[in-house]
Amino acid sequence: MAGNIRLKICDDAAQVAIEAAAMFDELIRANPDSVIGLATGSTPEATYAEIARRHKEDGLSLAGVSSFNLDEYWGLGGDHDQSYRYFMQDNLFRHVDILPFNTHVLNGKARFPQLECEGFENRILAAGGIDMWLLGIGGNGHIAFNEPGSGVDSRTRLVSLTQETIDANSDGRFFSDASEVPRCALSAGIGTIRESRRLVLLATGAKKADAIAAAVDGPFSEDCPASLLQDHPDCTFIVDRDAASKLSN
Ligand code: F6R
Repeated sequence: MAGNIRLKICDDAAQVAIEAAAMFDELIRANPDSVIGLATGSTPEATYAEIARRHKEDGLSLAGVSSFNLDEYWGLGGDHDQSYRYFMQDNLFRHVDILPFNTHVLNGKARFPQLECEGFENRILAAGGIDMWLLGIGGNGHIAFNEPGSGVDSRTRLVSLTQETIDANSDGRFFSDASEVPRCALSAGIGTIRESRRLVLLATGAKKADAIAAAVDGPFSEDCPASLLQDHPDCTFIVDRDAASKLSN
């Protein structure tokens, strides 16, 4: 059951990035004060490069935009090269004209995690909610760091990572050894994500095929956190042919 999920199947990862960047480009040009949600990981890197290119070459300005990131490793400060704050600076923020104080990434070194998470939720509310949130998906169907079993109404909180996620993030792309990967993270909840007015989930490569099939064709179930987007009124999955290869039709 695909619910309301709109599927865009692209020839390759490069096309996925162009489609995703085009959606953010359109949103931001229509409303320069847009509030956008962002993700980290390998998948959105090419999308951020394309948004940066559009800023440099096509006059796309993010000067009025506010951003909120999905998650951050618990225990890593923003100056750590594996923190998600660092990732965002490196892949997007330093290449565009977004104002630093308009970029919101959870503080992985906050003294009181619960206060940090409540503050994050309050800042989203104060900004008027998220217009469009970019998501990736884990091989086990996780969105942000909401691992299988996360509740549909879950909010931003301190969570534990599964061994599968720790292993996926220590395959050399990010951390080189599983022992270096933090065991916990601060993560927007599924309820937090579902409140975004629009959602855009990206997936590329055969490693994501099972998760995409479960999210789109499987039951609405906490076993596959991304399936909990099926009843969202405006959710688009942009996937390449490999990630789409296990879909039923
Ligand atoms: C990152 C995040 C994660 C990733 C997911 C896929 O902010 O929220 O859910 O989107 O782990 O990661 P990649 O793109 O590296 O396969």
